[in-house]
Amino acid sequence: MSNTIIAPSILAADFANLQRDIELINNSEAEWFHLDVMDGVFVPNISFGMPVIKSIAKHAKKPLDVHLMIIDPDRYIKVFAELGANVLTVHFEACTHLHRTLQAIKDEGMQAGVAINPHTNVSLLEDTIKDIDLVCMMSVNPGFGGQSFIENTYKKVRQLKKIIEANGASIKIEIDGGVTNKNAKQLVDAGADVLVAGSYVFGASDPTQTISDLVKLTR
Ligand code: DX5
Ligand code: ZN
Repeated sequence: MSNTIIAPSILAADFANLQRDIELINNSEAEWFHLDVMDGVFVPNISFGMPVIKSIAKHAKKPLDVHLMIIDPDRYIKVFAELGANVLTVHFEACTHLHRTLQAIKDEGMQAGVAINPHTNVSLLEDTIKDIDLVCMMSVNPGFGGQSFIENTYKKVRQLKKIIEANGASIKIEIDGGVTNKNAKQLVDAGADVLVAGSYVFGASDPTQTISDLVKLTR
């Protein structure tokens, strides 16, 4: 019995009908909004930034889970706190002083998340494990929605779960990329707590039902 959080990724929403898609999430069984910020440097794509998040925050009635795929994230921690981010996730690969960055996120009253790329070994998180609230495990290479799930993720989730338990830490494991009804249950069985789903939700003919199905599958 688990209580999996489904976090639809707004990257796959219709930006010309953003309010409609936000209301859809508000009225669904999803628990979080996942917001992907890309800078065109850390990842080969540019998504959206502050003005869009400000508008989303006005309508969203659920926590904002902001995933920064940017270099030098420290420069913007305060800004994202002011915008209303509840969870702020930075990339392990983009942080020279990860420990300091995590403290800065918490000092602003947000939960601190660390995202790791598919090539990054989970053991690299051991020395900051007590300072992390959420690990966003990338199950695709970050930068684009709609990519195929990388199967090696299951093994990494199990490894990370062991590290978390061995340290007596309380950390959420979030899976980001290529999540569908084909892998959701297996991911939760491996130890995942949060599932991000973009194209699977917004590409469906009935996104509300699709979210509900994911919730049922992972219960
Ligand atoms: C990828 C983003 C993901 C993406 C997920 O760089 O971090 O959050 O929006 O999209 P899907 O579910 O379509 O793989
Ligand atoms: Zn993301």
